[in-house]
Amino acid sequence: MYTVPKLEDYSPAALDKAAAELLAALDAEAAAVADAKAFEDFRNRWMARKNGILTQINDTWLKSAPGPAKRDAGQKVNQLKAAVEERINAAQNKASASGSNAKFAAETVDISLPGVRRPLGVKHPVLRVLDELVDVFVKMGYSVAEGPEVESDYYNFEALNFPPNHPARDTQDTLFIAGQEQRQQRDRLLLRTHTSPVQIRSMERLRPPVRVICPGKVFRNDAPDATHSPMFHQIEGLCVDTNITFGDLKGTLEHAMHSLFGSSVKTSFRPSFFPFTEPSVEVSISCPFCGGKGCRPCKQSGWIELLGAGMVDPNVYGFVDYDAQKYSGFAFGMGIERLAMMKYDVDDIQQFFYGDMRFLEQFA
Ligand code: DAH
Repeated sequence: MYTVPKLEDYSPAALDKAAAELLAALDAEAAAVADAKAFEDFRNRWMARKNGILTQINDTWLKSAPGPAKRDAGQKVNQLKAAVEERINAAQNKASASGSNAKFAAETVDISLPGVRRPLGVKHPVLRVLDELVDVFVKMGYSVAEGPEVESDYYNFEALNFPPNHPARDTQDTLFIAGQEQRQQRDRLLLRTHTSPVQIRSMERLRPPVRVICPGKVFRNDAPDATHSPMFHQIEGLCVDTNITFGDLKGTLEHAMHSLFGSSVKTSFRPSFFPFTEPSVEVSISCPFCGGKGCRPCKQSGWIELLGAGMVDPNVYGFVDYDAQKYSGFAFGMGIERLAMMKYDVDDIQQFFYGDMRFLEQFA
């Protein structure tokens, strides 16, 4: 390996000879550089500030040159510095190029391997049922309305004829927003417990005739189990016009149930109570799976309870400035998960929210 010799003779011929030997060594070493690591060593050996070969020639050839020879020696050392830098740059280019070539050479592509599978998404079963229902009502001339999920006491309860402290409020385990004590009760915020507040918001916005369908998320302080979830979906319907009767309610819901479950299902209306409808009903359909004989989805009863409905209570019109003498209407509301569970024979409502691909893939 090349080492820097001490110079006794500073004649031009001697300087040329020493320089030629150094450059020959440099070229030989540069040619041997094959990869990034070797280049690193090569560069340090020649260029390192501390004891690299350039530093050595500076110290032993230039600094120790006798006075008269300093000029020649200085020129030679400068020429050599430039030459070394140039060779090192060239060696660096060579090393990095050969490095990446080597990488490509080592890489073999097996074109018979399967590619990365990117499954197409599909609509979630809950949204599928929800959209199907919306479509049925849009075809009957209803428009779609939405309202906020964080709602005020006024819209969720008061304007729906649940007076403050009325026991009917207890039927909907409400999640209240904290820190609202300073506000008047009607302005206090909560997570809406049903989509019925959108009835009020729609009537505030529109004059009769009104036909709206209001899908959305609702929230209740229910512990999750196979049939309860603190968040679920409802769809609300409202129709207000002149001369709307209970017969219109029955016909509309019967048509909707036939569209969803087939024209052989029967509907049944039983008296019930909701503060915002009078009279109020619970609507059931004959079990679409067993035709009424009794099976697992209908719990052997032959009937499945699907929704609440009724004729809009005149008190409600008072909150939105509708003339209760002139107009009448009906409303209904139902839970979407319940419908989806029935339709797809799902026995645990939580399945809709786990995000388990094995469950969701079945709807693809
Ligand atoms: N909002 C009621 C609930 O969540 C369901 C309901 C009943 C909606 C009767 C209505 C109705 O529009 O008329 O329990």
